[in-house]
Amino acid sequence: MPARWHALRPHPEQRRLWTEAKRFAVVPAGRRSGKTEIAKRRLVCGLPAKKPWSDPRYFAAAPTREQAKRVYWNDIKALVPGKWVKKVYESDLCVTTKYKSELWVLGMDRPERIEGTPWDGGVLDEYANMKPNAWTENIRPALADRAGWCWFVGVPEGLNHYKDLADYAGSGSDADWGLYRWNSSGILPAAEIEAARRVMDPRTFRQEFEASFEGSTGRAYYAYNSKRHEDSSISVNKRLKLFVCCDFNVGLSVWEVVQADKGRVQVVDEIALRDTNTLEMGRLVLSKYGSHTEGIAVYGDSAGMNRSTAGKSDYAILYELGLRDQRIGRANPPVRDRVNSVNALLENADGEARLFHHPRCAHLKKDLETVEWLSNGGLDKSNSERTHATDALGYFVEREYPLRIDRPDPGMRFYK
Ligand SMILES: Nc1ncnc2c1ncn2[C@@H]1O[C@H](COP(=O)(O)OP(=O)(O)OP(=O)(O)O)[C@@H](O)[C@H]1O
Ligand SMILES: [Mg+2]
Repeated sequence: MPARWHALRPHPEQRRLWTEAKRFAVVPAGRRSGKTEIAKRRLVCGLPAKKPWSDPRYFAAAPTREQAKRVYWNDIKALVPGKWVKKVYESDLCVTTKYKSELWVLGMDRPERIEGTPWDGGVLDEYANMKPNAWTENIRPALADRAGWCWFVGVPEGLNHYKDLADYAGSGSDADWGLYRWNSSGILPAAEIEAARRVMDPRTFRQEFEASFEGSTGRAYYAYNSKRHEDSSISVNKRLKLFVCCDFNVGLSVWEVVQADKGRVQVVDEIALRDTNTLEMGRLVLSKYGSHTEGIAVYGDSAGMNRSTAGKSDYAILYELGLRDQRIGRANPPVRDRVNSVNALLENADGEARLFHHPRCAHLKKDLETVEWLSNGGLDKSNSERTHATDALGYFVEREYPLRIDRPDPGMRFYK
């Protein structure tokens, strides 16, 4: 076998997955815990298998083609022994073998590549991020003719279709199905797990590293407790920069003023005005803090780049007022990431709090105490007063304290 087949540390649950050889295997396991690696090996090992038809076909699929290519393609080529290979189709991401079998790397952003042709088996990686109906509508029918097998691999993502499938596989009611789960701690070095514990809230940590299906219903900022996070002794520190966190709105506008000292984040003030505009809000910031010698940096909603009031974007207006240090992402992070990053500062998986606010930040407190998740995965915005303060703060927190730990590909969102 090629050198790429380095020995893996034995893991009982991985071994069970391999030896039980169920037709359908649901594999929710922790981050960086060898899910994809074992799936790659399973696919490659199947290539020489003799079938009653002349062209056994297998797939390695991820939510997008770009992701599938990045995660699978080079490794597949390195794992398939050279003497098995008939031809490598770089542009199609397909390897054909002397056994007449084919292995395709596919993105489920184009499910039609799976539909319409029969398959002998395949892997759906990061299944929780695929469309909920992809399995029943596109994939399951394509496996019917040849009694094909399928592995569903990935980290859980809330209580979505992946959980339903895991529940079914784990119920024991269907002998074709098996459920296999393991924690990251079985594979990842302890230091990596500890680094994640420090930056993640407990719920996200359980989801990502213990493959737990965590609901996000009820309070969004569940880690908040005013007794713990409200601090009337907070005041502006003249030696630290001020961060103004903006959320642009018609109706009520709420901006938060924040300082950060090492790992501790303090919300020192809140500026809230009704029926106002960006110009007026910016002027108010400057009248209160324009003389702050360490300067002011602006954070906020990336939508404020495009939307315009009187022909200028919100950030252009602030720039012209002199608020020129603007730290705005090109696109907003997913809401879930933003909320989780705030929760992680409120309490990390070690139980430590790193975010505090002054009692004068009344909207912030109200948001932290009352904002709820909707069942569709978004935040409840039915009360027009709510979420502005936490949205504003969240843009800053997600940017400066993201839920990422060092990993080989630093450009990647940690848990995708
Ligand atoms: N049983 C094992 N023992 C030791 N190392 C392993 C084992 N399985 C996988 N690895 C190694 O762990 C690393 C991560 O593997 P892999 O990419 O398969 O993880 P993953 O669970 O798919 O991660 P992600 O959550 O990022 O998708 C790889 O370098 C792989 O070689
Ligand atoms: Mg993976």
